[in-house]
Amino acid sequence: MPTVLITGVNRGLGLEFIRQYAAAGWTVLGTCRDPDSAGEARELAAAAPNVTLYKLDVGDAGAIAALADTLRGVAIDVLILNAGIMAERTGLGTFKAEDFRHVMNINVVAPALFIQAFADHVAASERKIIVGMGSTLGSIAGNNSGGLYSYRSSKAGLHAIMKTASIDLKDRGVIAIAMHPGWVVTDMGGNSADIQTEESIAGMMAVIDTLGPDHSGRLLTYAGEELPW
Ligand SMILES: NC(=O)c1ccc[n+]([C@@H]2O[C@H](COP(=O)([O-])OP(=O)(O)OC[C@H]3O[C@@H](n4cnc5c(N)ncnc54)[C@H](OP(=O)(O)O)[C@@H]3O)[C@@H](O)[C@H]2O)c1
Repeated sequence: MPTVLITGVNRGLGLEFIRQYAAAGWTVLGTCRDPDSAGEARELAAAAPNVTLYKLDVGDAGAIAALADTLRGVAIDVLILNAGIMAERTGLGTFKAEDFRHVMNINVVAPALFIQAFADHVAASERKIIVGMGSTLGSIAGNNSGGLYSYRSSKAGLHAIMKTASIDLKDRGVIAIAMHPGWVVTDMGGNSADIQTEESIAGMMAVIDTLGPDHSGRLLTYAGEELPW
């Protein structure tokens, strides 16, 4: 069975990703900051022999390189860069430099370091797919409402990274895309969001399943529609 590596799997979209990939029989490698307190993810890993959790703070560049070393020789069919944050103060007149830099570090620098560290693992696999968890809020062409300075610019940065990786890794057969999961009920999405994690993840997995070289370098929704950068 194929192997998927997903970041930020202790709650929200990441947790549902490991649930559904585990149920589909994939070999599932998940990272979270604190596996000891990741109740549901830990229970899943204890019950399912195809699920393994790794402790990792994506803001720690050394830890990303160390995990890539630990997994050296493991072919990763699908790498999903899911861990992400939104700062509390993001409107004009409210945001602070330190919060802004932290959002950029987690949402932009970390995924870029992951791609750098894991390009060989993905290129050695059969499916060769890298998915960055982007957002409509990072679409510059689709920005009609303003606000959310750090989050919007971090997701636009992630989109740029996915597009760039699609070009740099094309010769190795790697498909790199950004995905918008929908507006989803999670701690980040809140309770008024449009859809539940089950629907978002089932949709994204179906889209990932059908990806080919022509999709590389695009921003796709969980329903498979293309969005403008
Ligand atoms: N929900 C939506 O409507 C929506 C829409 C568009 C895009 N997205 C994107 O989808 C992704 C997942 O969002 P979500 O809704 O599931 O958010 P969430 O419920 O807030 O979960 C965020 C995940 O990221 C992890 N994370 C944060 N900082 C981390 C760090 N430094 N190291 C490792 N893990 C870290 C969290 O772990 P901890 O528990 O340790 O903090 C958690 O597992 C994010 O990239 C988000 O921007 C979400």
